[in-house]
Amino acid sequence: MTTSPAVMAAGSKPVGLDQNRVALLADTHISADPNRVYPGTKWPGSPVKEDEHESVHIANSLIEAAKGVIELNPRPAHLIVNGDCALSNGKEAEYKQFLRLIEPIRAAGITVHVTIGNHDNRENLWKLLPFLKEEQIGIQAGVVELPHANLILMDSGKGALGGKQLRWLCDELDERTDRPALVYGHFNPYPNRGIRPNKGMHDGPSLLNLLAKRKHARAYIYGHTHEWQYDRRDHLCLINQPAVSYYFGKGHAHGWVDMRLTEMSAELELRCINPNHKQNGDRKQITLKDPKTLN
Ligand SMILES: [Fe+2]
Repeated sequence: MTTSPAVMAAGSKPVGLDQNRVALLADTHISADPNRVYPGTKWPGSPVKEDEHESVHIANSLIEAAKGVIELNPRPAHLIVNGDCALSNGKEAEYKQFLRLIEPIRAAGITVHVTIGNHDNRENLWKLLPFLKEEQIGIQAGVVELPHANLILMDSGKGALGGKQLRWLCDELDERTDRPALVYGHFNPYPNRGIRPNKGMHDGPSLLNLLAKRKHARAYIYGHTHEWQYDRRDHLCLINQPAVSYYFGKGHAHGWVDMRLTEMSAELELRCINPNHKQNGDRKQITLKDPKTLN
């Protein structure tokens, strides 16, 4: 285990920060109103009857997720919010609440990263939360180099990566063939097979094509559908993160994912906001190296 200098937990023993552990969050959808409750199952065409909708308390969902992350021992050195930090469109008041809610995570020594979702505003985010700015080619993108894998954070903005960013991704991947890569972006790369139909990003086929050609690209990890789903195409795992906040299907999971990296694999464990949810503790694995070839 690679750990950074210990951080003191209040009134207890020092807790190490693990460079091989990353907390994965998505779709926190923080409102300007700290008491906002949102019926995620209510959308045009929803199969849920009018008097049977399910609501979540948005801020409390992130408070619970943050508590769960901070309680881990060792603590993850990094946490990624994979898009849609805000509820509407990245208003100043939403990012102020978001800042308040992630403050305990930062105080625990964990480095927070975000990608841009369709409910975010890149300029407002950079202006109001400048410590979250990771800029490449004029957008929110970057590479987090960890001992066993590189995490590449992409900006799918309003639903596309664009040719310039796809070329940037190719360059970053091709410069780092010595280590497996996990690629993060907000949008689904193909139409959602889950409860709420959506087409996903416009240039998803181009993304999948370039990842298919690079064997060290081991996963594309995304949010947007608010649903925990898993898929695999040859060497590439496709991991769909649940929302921290509201979900679209009755009884669906919401929460976050604890990711632990070793030389050979990334182990994912679903942590539901409701600890009694039937999928709490659900595990998936991303193979980082083929045991036969070690590539
Ligand atoms: Fe979302």
